[in-house]
Amino acid sequence: MTERLQILYNRKPCYDIVFTRSFQELAPELKAMGFDEHKICIVTDSRVDGLYGEEMLERLSGQCKKAVKYVFPEGESHKTLDTVRELYRYLIAEEFDRKDLLLALGGGVVGDVTGYAAATYLRGVDFVQVPTTLLAQADSSIGGKTGVDFDGYKNMVGAFKMPRLVYMNLEVLQTLEDRQYFSGFAEVMKHGLIRDAALYEWLIENMYEICERDMDVLQEMLVRSCTVKKLVVEKDPLEHGERALLNFGHTIGHAIEKAKKFEWYHGECVALGAVAAAFISWKRELLSMEEYYEIRDMFVPFYLPISIDGVDPVEILGLTRSDKKRESGNIRFVLLKKIGRAVIDNTVTDQEILAAIQEIYFSDEDAHA
Ligand code: GLY
Repeated sequence: MTERLQILYNRKPCYDIVFTRSFQELAPELKAMGFDEHKICIVTDSRVDGLYGEEMLERLSGQCKKAVKYVFPEGESHKTLDTVRELYRYLIAEEFDRKDLLLALGGGVVGDVTGYAAATYLRGVDFVQVPTTLLAQADSSIGGKTGVDFDGYKNMVGAFKMPRLVYMNLEVLQTLEDRQYFSGFAEVMKHGLIRDAALYEWLIENMYEICERDMDVLQEMLVRSCTVKKLVVEKDPLEHGERALLNFGHTIGHAIEKAKKFEWYHGECVALGAVAAAFISWKRELLSMEEYYEIRDMFVPFYLPISIDGVDPVEILGLTRSDKKRESGNIRFVLLKKIGRAVIDNTVTDQEILAAIQEIYFSDEDAHA
């Protein structure tokens, strides 16, 4: 039942992703890497702490030199240097040295903050990812991107820091609230759209089981989705080129996230950004009209939004300008050449972006038409 994927870095084995159904195998995995001789700091947020914090502390206590837990308040607003500073203080107080381990237990925010602290504390200590949301399992726990938001800019300060292990207990997905679960699903859909048409078809065929959270289907879905991410990050771990394909839907998605003041979930905004990017791809005659409408409509059964309201499209366009995916003034936009094949394009104009935002914009006038 347990499966593994190995991630390479510069063609050498770097870390494993373990797909399993409980937390039972975590301590043995850590022991196999020698961490039973060292201290472990579980880093988590207030929500995940209430669910798994004590269980994790109990599981690791006695299995290593000393297990401790650092908890910070949940939410994107805590993905900041202040949280990292408090974590440094805690690690100093607990006398963590360079051989000790940080363990990120939680969703994307926890993984990003912990990874960044691991990249910088004492010029770098090891960390492992134990992602507990679908978003973190499908995307953010893999590939070594870590960081925090800064002055309202998302992920503006960060580092690449590869984890030593990504341990996924898929059972945790059963208790995720629906909105959080489907938000994570948007990143799975993204992986199919950019690189694996067969995965995209399979997701549609297994729509019912995915919505019902059938465990066998979820495991297959995650292994296939993580395989796409593995192939992309192995070729371009530090995002000099191809890795940017993973940003499909993120340029407009991030702008919507900011415009909506982070009240809409990341994956919901990525779905909207993906629809907008597919629209531009259709207008450039890369995709057919049928493909565009199919992509758009395929988010609906997974309870993901395909239209927005309440924010001025021009404001969203303005917010895409502050995105760090711009290079020398040009945006590195990701378009679809066909389903399963994405391309990076530096020539997408503000007019095209605005037209795409207007396409997904649902105004009161539309409602009355
Ligand atoms: N989430 C995009 C990346 O890891 O590159």
